[in-house]
Amino acid sequence: MTHYTTVRPPEAAPDWTIPQDWERYSADEHAMWDHLFERQTRLLPGRVAPAFLEGLDILRLSKPGIPDFAELNARLMDATGWQVVAVPGLVPDAVFFDHLANRRFVAGRFIRTPEQIDYLEEPDIFHDVFGHVPLLANPVFADYMEAYGRGGQRAGELGAIERLARLYWYTVEFGLLRGADGLQIYGAGIVSSFSESIFALDDPSPNRIAFDLRRVMRTLYRIDDFQQTYFVIDSFEDLLRQTVENDFAPLYRALQGANDIGAADVLDSDRVDHRGTQDYAHAKALSAGKHNA
Ligand SMILES: [Fe+2]
Repeated sequence: MTHYTTVRPPEAAPDWTIPQDWERYSADEHAMWDHLFERQTRLLPGRVAPAFLEGLDILRLSKPGIPDFAELNARLMDATGWQVVAVPGLVPDAVFFDHLANRRFVAGRFIRTPEQIDYLEEPDIFHDVFGHVPLLANPVFADYMEAYGRGGQRAGELGAIERLARLYWYTVEFGLLRGADGLQIYGAGIVSSFSESIFALDDPSPNRIAFDLRRVMRTLYRIDDFQQTYFVIDSFEDLLRQTVENDFAPLYRALQGANDIGAADVLDSDRVDHRGTQDYAHAKALSAGKHNA
């Protein structure tokens, strides 16, 4: 995910962090967290990677409502040495990667309003904390996120941020995992969304294709709607191994000049779990066309 913005707000520290100011959340804001938390934790068992449910216990804090980062961080530090830090919004890529490389996850501190309950333009604290933090308590996934941050620092020098952003998108945000009894969700963009938690696994529309690092780095993605393709990893260990063992510099060179792959395309070389009908995306495109006509 690219995290662009050019001017650091005056209230932010040089590393762009701001205090969470937990005391300033209103009762309505805490109630919104509780509502979203309850809705997702009811839906997810049986759909989500077991490691996510194990990590979720870290968010069951002593106070109701939005987690207090001070308390959350004490638990997360014990588990894997990670921390969550608040930022005012999107941050520049270099700042984002530096935090990840040092085991700090940047999170928005605001929470969505009732009008935004199912659609948000910028990630809020529910997406950032409920979606991302449980897996940061998993030692293997925690190492993957740090490795991604260090990879990002190198990608900046190599002009390959976009390729690496696709890896983040199709794993950290929208990844699926092959479980013993079928596919499971683990990406934060899915697990924090009620409707996509269902769509990503059950809907015949999207493709579900085995993860392949080079393939993913060539693949365009949707930022405005459900994904048209989800990539399935075999395990977090395998994802970490592919990320750490690959020297990205030759990989980026090999991919230079390679065509981008469309968000809905299926290649002959793909290992396909499910070839999507794309009915959902087509219906949306059709109704958008009608609105424009
Ligand atoms: Fe995210």
